[in-house]
Amino acid sequence: MTRPPYAPPTLPEEIALLEAMAAIAPKGVRIGCRKIRDEDEAHLLPEEARAIPARHPAIRRASGAARWIAHGLLWDIGLNDFAVLRTSSGAPVWPDGMTGSLAHDNEMAVAAVAPVSHIGSLGIDVEPAQPLPHDIFALVTTPADTTEALNQDLTGRILFSAKEAVYKAVYPLDREILGYEDIAVDLNAGLAVTTTGHRVKLLYCVAPRVVVVAFVRGN
Ligand SMILES: CC(C)(COP(=O)(O)OP(=O)(O)OC[C@H]1O[C@@H](n2cnc3c(N)ncnc32)[C@H](O)[C@@H]1OP(=O)(O)O)[C@@H](O)C(=O)NCCC(=O)NCCS
Repeated sequence: MTRPPYAPPTLPEEIALLEAMAAIAPKGVRIGCRKIRDEDEAHLLPEEARAIPARHPAIRRASGAARWIAHGLLWDIGLNDFAVLRTSSGAPVWPDGMTGSLAHDNEMAVAAVAPVSHIGSLGIDVEPAQPLPHDIFALVTTPADTTEALNQDLTGRILFSAKEAVYKAVYPLDREILGYEDIAVDLNAGLAVTTTGHRVKLLYCVAPRVVVVAFVRGN
């Protein structure tokens, strides 16, 4: 045992986010968050540090924070010191029999893992709970999207986050690179459909941050 198990969040914003994420997490999905701290790059295991080419300290800190969460979630189910490496596409590599996903915005990192017996493939995204700039919304949305979300101010942000989470969930299945126009999101139904034929369930919270969990059902 060389690393401590995942410690529960201590900061009020982490506690509030974990509570919101726990409320939306599908059965079988383990989920966590961490405010990105100075020196979080130190949480990268040596193999992970080598697998992450980014030199910018903020990017390495964010990846370290996300992996700190993932290490703890995996530790809790007996997978100690598992290094979450990356493929050349950037997709994370999970232990056999597991799926998972990582994300970070400027301040917060999140991670989720699940056994493939419950969840075929998983994607997560985190965003600040702020309206999406209009020009980005125009890039992200298509007429195929249904965006009558409850919180109108955050509709664009949720849609953006949903498409990112869906991409992360489906990319490992067939390694198809999708654009925003390839993912039709129905926020009311909690469902996305890709041009590559995947149907992806969506769950989201909006406070204290926008987090979307996207998943393809397991067998
Ligand atoms: C996957 C992608 C959407 C991530 O978005 P991002 O805003 O850069 O970063 P996020 O913080 O949300 O997520 C980062 C994590 O995504 C994961 N990720 C990266 N590429 C991935 C892929 N192809 N499949 C699944 N997960 C991936 C990694 O775990 C990464 O964490 P790490 O950098 O610590 O290893 C982006 O990197 C990408 O590959 N885009 C190309 C396709 C695209 O943008 N299409 C339009 C959106 S649908």
